[in-house]
Amino acid sequence: MEESKWTKMWLDYHRIYDGGRVWKMVLGGFMEDQAVIASAIFEFKRAIEALTGEQVIDVKKDGTAGNLRTMCIKKQDSVPVEGYRIAGNEEGIVLEASDERGVLYGIFAIIRQIACGKRAEEVAEVASPSNPLRMMNHWDNMDGSIERGYSGESFFFEKDEILINDRTRDYARFMASIGINGVVINNVNVKGAASYLITDKYFDRLESLSEIFGDYGIRLYLSLNFASPIEIGGMDSCDPLDKDVIKWWEDKIKEVYDRLPLLGGFLVKADSEGRPGPFTYGRTQADGANMLGDVIKPYDGIIIWRCFVYNCTQDWRDTKTDRARAGYDYFKEQDGTYHDNVILQIKNGPMDFQIREPVSPLLGGLTKTNQMLEVQIAQEYTGHQIDLCYLIPLFKEVLDFHTYCDPEKDTVADVVSGRTMGNTLGGMAAVINTGNDINWTGNDLAAANLYGFGRLSYDTELSAEQIAREWIAMTFKLPDKEADILCSMLLRSREIYEKYSSPLGIGWMVTPNGHYGPSVDGYEYSRWGTYHRADHLGIGVDRSDKGTGYAQQYYEENAKMYNDPTTCPEELLLFFHHIPYTWKLKTGKTLIQHIYDSHFEGEEEARDLASDWESIRDLIPAEAFDRVKERFGLQLDNAREWRDQVNSYFFRKSGIADEKGRTIY
Ligand code: GCU
Repeated sequence: MEESKWTKMWLDYHRIYDGGRVWKMVLGGFMEDQAVIASAIFEFKRAIEALTGEQVIDVKKDGTAGNLRTMCIKKQDSVPVEGYRIAGNEEGIVLEASDERGVLYGIFAIIRQIACGKRAEEVAEVASPSNPLRMMNHWDNMDGSIERGYSGESFFFEKDEILINDRTRDYARFMASIGINGVVINNVNVKGAASYLITDKYFDRLESLSEIFGDYGIRLYLSLNFASPIEIGGMDSCDPLDKDVIKWWEDKIKEVYDRLPLLGGFLVKADSEGRPGPFTYGRTQADGANMLGDVIKPYDGIIIWRCFVYNCTQDWRDTKTDRARAGYDYFKEQDGTYHDNVILQIKNGPMDFQIREPVSPLLGGLTKTNQMLEVQIAQEYTGHQIDLCYLIPLFKEVLDFHTYCDPEKDTVADVVSGRTMGNTLGGMAAVINTGNDINWTGNDLAAANLYGFGRLSYDTELSAEQIAREWIAMTFKLPDKEADILCSMLLRSREIYEKYSSPLGIGWMVTPNGHYGPSVDGYEYSRWGTYHRADHLGIGVDRSDKGTGYAQQYYEENAKMYNDPTTCPEELLLFFHHIPYTWKLKTGKTLIQHIYDSHFEGEEEARDLASDWESIRDLIPAEAFDRVKERFGLQLDNAREWRDQVNSYFFRKSGIADEKGRTIY
């Protein structure tokens, strides 16, 4: 086989043990020519031969060789959709599933367990997905660039053409191995050639892509330009209630599904950051989403409508207008009117993927609407895949958050899975962190976020540590001590990033547009006044009932907690309150001293991360080691820059010296 030019990330199998037997595949109730089953068999062979040195013979061959074990794949309708049961013993392994995806996921579970150290006879697991939809959202543009991409160029698009090659298949394998069942390939900001993805020009290639994805149980989705009737249809309106516009969409969607029967549906960003939408015509978000939902319904398609709608030209001097409120204000009113095949996709926080934000009050705030959680593994505000920032602890916090929307099933995990309201459409989506870099994710360690998101979306009960350990075991075959070091690095990394960047939930403070590195007043959408409201006495945004009232968008328990600075969780204090620098935190430190201390600590701890990496040098493949080491070099510069800019900004604003007398530049 030709050596591929890219890494296999966690599917780069290492020899775990040398077994001396031969495997025979036996199918009961499934057929080997079913596309996903064929992929499962292929994956099993490939992995077992590499992990154990044992041979796997074809399904058709008669098992004449002695010393045979069977890999028995049985159809069992009592297993939940996309779930599996696996059990190993001396004779082999039995995998039961009710559908093809369940088989594929079961095979990958077997592989995972063996790669993590179990022998084939020990594998055992009963699993089914927490979420119906587990999706990746690519922000890839058709010229090959990636919006907020930190890992090279797109592997889906180049010069306005769709790329299909071996990398496409490897990508599908990675996604299936972590349980992803839907992929949006193009940027939510649909412009230029991307508007034409729903035209004849691209149907052939999209069809091939949807088939490759289909082999791995993944449905293809596209981001849609709400103004398509104007941009590609030559009409003068895209008013969702206009009969001619609706007719245009009906014809268009029919044409699309005639050619792309496997298409899952569309993702839409409307009325946000310059994108067109129903507001232009005095219509609501529901008018827009429902119109498309109705048009796509005959084809069993779905419309995923983003709630990232806000006025990016807000005047921050006006203390009543609050961007954080926007999502809830725009979408809550129409709760209950969204059609069955419409899902609202909600970013985890009310702002924009900051290192620390409260959970969006729309999650669970909507009680009669399909909803889906959107997170970002592309590290836009969390270090650009230069700085180490393992995000799974952040996602866990969001999933575990009690919204109080229901007496029992009230966490975000409950809500988006459909458990709370009994809806069948919902789940989790991530803005993905991949590109055509040799290692897919820029920083080799950022693959932990990619792997982790998929695993967590399939099983929201997994802990951040379990996921980290699995990923480490599958990616690098490390002895326990070194695996512990790497695991600890991952688990500490988010807080370290938080310590040297913006304090206590205030967010931003990043360089405008690029969003890497500090610029305390620089945020591009705050040219009218600073969003953080720092003055010589204090900092923070009053979002209590005396301020913008954002805290009141939560259910009472949370609203009360956030409303009062003495009960508000301190890590979010500045998000909810304007606090004097002399305010005493629970540690006994003043706010200003906390800012200084955490920034000094964050920078020191970033240095610890770099030296921990150095300490495991001998056990990491040289190329990966060097790539990551280079990134740590940049991270240290970044951490220093943050520490110095933030500390000196607040020193100058407050005039209060560091108690410990350290030099503040
Ligand atoms: C952020 C990001 C944009 C992106 C937007 C979105 O604002 O900076 O690049 O388009 O989120 O989620 O739509």
